[in-house]
Amino acid sequence: MKVAVLAGDGIGTEIVAEAVKVLKALDLKMEMESALVGGVAYDAHGHPLPPATLALAKAADAVLFGAVGDWKYDKLERQFRPEQAILGLRKELGLFANFRPAICYEELVGASSLKPELISGLDILIIRELTGDIYFGTPRGRRVATDGHFPGAEEAFDTMRYSRPEIERIGHVAFQAAQKRSKRVTSVDKNNVLETSQLWKDVMVEVAKQYPDVALDHMLVDNAAMQLVKEPKKFDVLVTGNMFGDILSDEASMLTGSIGMLPSASLNSKNQGLYEPSHGSAPDIAGRGIANPLATILSAAMMLRFSLNQAASAERIETAVKAVLAKGLRTADIYGKGGAGMTKVSTREMGDAVVAALAN
Ligand code: IPM
Ligand code: MG
Repeated sequence: MKVAVLAGDGIGTEIVAEAVKVLKALDLKMEMESALVGGVAYDAHGHPLPPATLALAKAADAVLFGAVGDWKYDKLERQFRPEQAILGLRKELGLFANFRPAICYEELVGASSLKPELISGLDILIIRELTGDIYFGTPRGRRVATDGHFPGAEEAFDTMRYSRPEIERIGHVAFQAAQKRSKRVTSVDKNNVLETSQLWKDVMVEVAKQYPDVALDHMLVDNAAMQLVKEPKKFDVLVTGNMFGDILSDEASMLTGSIGMLPSASLNSKNQGLYEPSHGSAPDIAGRGIANPLATILSAAMMLRFSLNQAASAERIETAVKAVLAKGLRTADIYGKGGAGMTKVSTREMGDAVVAALAN
């Protein structure tokens, strides 16, 4: 098993170090090799995704990824910004299927800004298409407008774009995931306005015919954003495009108390995958040892399950995480909101506690 470890920027190095520690404690036959990615790679090599980093990722069975981005790179030309590293990896590795589970741990029910009865037992799986849509549409750029409200003015444009096969393959991923769960899929789009969304909806209806055991319903994205906070438990598998999925997955993460808890997996058609926390690089708290490493540790568990065929080890990690939460250990983001008797811990202490719980 070969794992490329790309920690990236901000809190990336701190949280990935804890996940690596947990993986090492499992004593599996696993080779881990690290490389620079994001802003730190730009500083060292002049590019956020240097060729050597990309080659390492391509040659690995899986990539364990931290986070990229820092405000100090905001002035760079877009192609050199840290975010291009993660977008480049998704594109180059063909990671079209992004799994973002939003699970509310019973111990953290009080940490959510929503009422406990709305989120207790919550278990949603967001499946986000990750290599199409307005993120990767062409053409894009700047020009002088020839029509619209202000002809002659400078305008910028990005193109929202989806092809039938792109929608079909993410549809299959969603229906197959639903077959292993409660057999319901909600497809989210904006077909009342957008042609890409109408194609999305039409294709989802067609793919659904191959899964008669799964119930499909459709929701417009604005309504979905509202329903996620009004009645989140009515969702099970939610499948949507790249842009809507980006926004809705951040929203769903906060239902669970903290975005610091949510792992993610991005897979290609060969089950090669990139595993990263759903949160970003949080430069405001970087280097202070207070970031929550659990999202990354849980991403490592997803990596073991999806790409490395080590389901038993994945389960050991997930059980250990539940155990440390039950013991009352909390990083700052989840501290003080879930009842009495909790202990505030640092990033490293949380990682150590998960390692200790593995042994039990
Ligand atoms: C995410 C992030 C990325 C995205 C950024 C960093 C490019 O927000 O993984 O959700 O928009 O996909
Ligand atoms: Mg995002």
